[in-house]
Amino acid sequence: METRDVPPQPARRNFLKKASAVFIGALTALVPALSGLMVFLDPLRRKSQDSDAVLIASLSALPEDGVPRKFSVIAGHNDAWNHMPRVPVGAVYLRRIGDKSVQAFNVICPHAGCFVDYLPAIKNYHCPCHNSSFALDGSIADPKSPSPRGLDELPVEIRNENEIWVKFQNFRAGVRERIPV
Ligand code: FES
Repeated sequence: METRDVPPQPARRNFLKKASAVFIGALTALVPALSGLMVFLDPLRRKSQDSDAVLIASLSALPEDGVPRKFSVIAGHNDAWNHMPRVPVGAVYLRRIGDKSVQAFNVICPHAGCFVDYLPAIKNYHCPCHNSSFALDGSIADPKSPSPRGLDELPVEIRNENEIWVKFQNFRAGVRERIPV
């Protein structure tokens, strides 16, 4: 039986050539565009990997008997693309609750935003603005306190055996729920 070679159709060949050219052209444009996008989004990626915790003090700066001490929180304001110099952003009370364990409270009163004091004589925190009082563990000590919730506790991490890092956060005042602001 006789077979005959069928010559390729010119139209089909042209179509394949054009499709390859379009594909290669698209690939050539896409690679630099994707690289640029990755560079642009890199700060976001790095920020998500960073911890927002701030180094506040060393463990040795805290009395071992659990008496709270107040510290300023000095932090750089960072967004994804800008790094601002370190400035005071608030303050916290730190107290030892164990050998390597520390409790941190935001010093801002959850009632209306005044700074609370620690009164060593009665071992309570007290807000001078409207007389809210808080126990050492941050809970409301006097039921007549107008504060809708206890002091705002903040996450603490001990790093390198002696460094106290706090994830500092402010919360909305005047409401029962802890709503970050
Ligand atoms: S602001 Fe603290 S009791 Fe009102």
